[in-house]
Amino acid sequence: MTEEAAPAPGIPVLTDAEIRKIGELLYRWTGMVFGENKRFFIERRVAERIKQTRVASTGAYIVMLGSHMEERAALINAFTINETYFYREEHQLAALSQDILPDIVRTKRPGDLVRIWSLPCSTGEEPYSIAIWLLENWPLVDAYNVEIVGSDIDTDALARAENGYFAARSLARMPERVKDAYFEAEKGHRRRIIQDIRESVQFVAANVVDPANMARMGLFDVILCRNLLIYFDDAARLTAAGHIYDALNPGGYLCLGHSESMARITDRFTLVRLPDAIVYRRP
Ligand SMILES: C[S@@+](CC[C@H](N)C(=O)[O-])C[C@H]1O[C@@H](n2cnc3c(N)ncnc32)[C@H](O)[C@@H]1O
Repeated sequence: MTEEAAPAPGIPVLTDAEIRKIGELLYRWTGMVFGENKRFFIERRVAERIKQTRVASTGAYIVMLGSHMEERAALINAFTINETYFYREEHQLAALSQDILPDIVRTKRPGDLVRIWSLPCSTGEEPYSIAIWLLENWPLVDAYNVEIVGSDIDTDALARAENGYFAARSLARMPERVKDAYFEAEKGHRRRIIQDIRESVQFVAANVVDPANMARMGLFDVILCRNLLIYFDDAARLTAAGHIYDALNPGGYLCLGHSESMARITDRFTLVRLPDAIVYRRP
């Protein structure tokens, strides 16, 4: 999360109580922590929402958030940090094709469902990377019914994921040959992921700290929850870990981001050291 400069003239200065209230609401709704040290970050985003909604004051805006679900979603979308790119932490994708999926299918028959969940998926680079990586690197990909689901709390990010347009920066780590095989050229430096891959990923909004939201998604063989828990405090991490545990089949795998760990959160998962990555498993 980057710090920002002081608000420009015209941006309302929130009182300490308003900053705290917005932080409390965002924490309750998302698990993300925005403390008073993020004052400028909060002020800028709240100011933009006040401008869009044309309410008279920050107080009125906070009241509005209590009953307007669309505005609540718009506020959450404004606060999410969507940084992501194709083939991020490629070593985990290697672990997926070389160790995790071969182990998962030992107890399945050809044609059986293999469910993989990218949560959070932000603008789609992660689940699309999984789809492309498996086509390129897992010889058994056609032998099973592989379902890849991408979820995020940010509905704007999900809409962008479904559209499938990506800037050059997002594609920088992919080999040219792979880019040419799976992306159409567009005007400028944007490229669109081909329809076959777009259709191979299902996008569904989900909030990792919401039990009802998580329960309706069913059970998965592999969950990637990368670069999300860094924005949470320990209590929200524990809630998320419980929901993820419940969403995994027994024996299912969990991949976290490289700076994240279950060590201080819960001992319900088993740590698995693979040649390419350290991952977790539901016993
Ligand atoms: C930095 S991105 C990580 C994307 C991808 N996993 C990666 O590693 O490249 C973090 C994402 O977490 C999402 N997010 C934040 N709180 C969430 C929650 N409670 N439930 C689901 N997604 C959430 C944000 O919308 C954002 O898109």
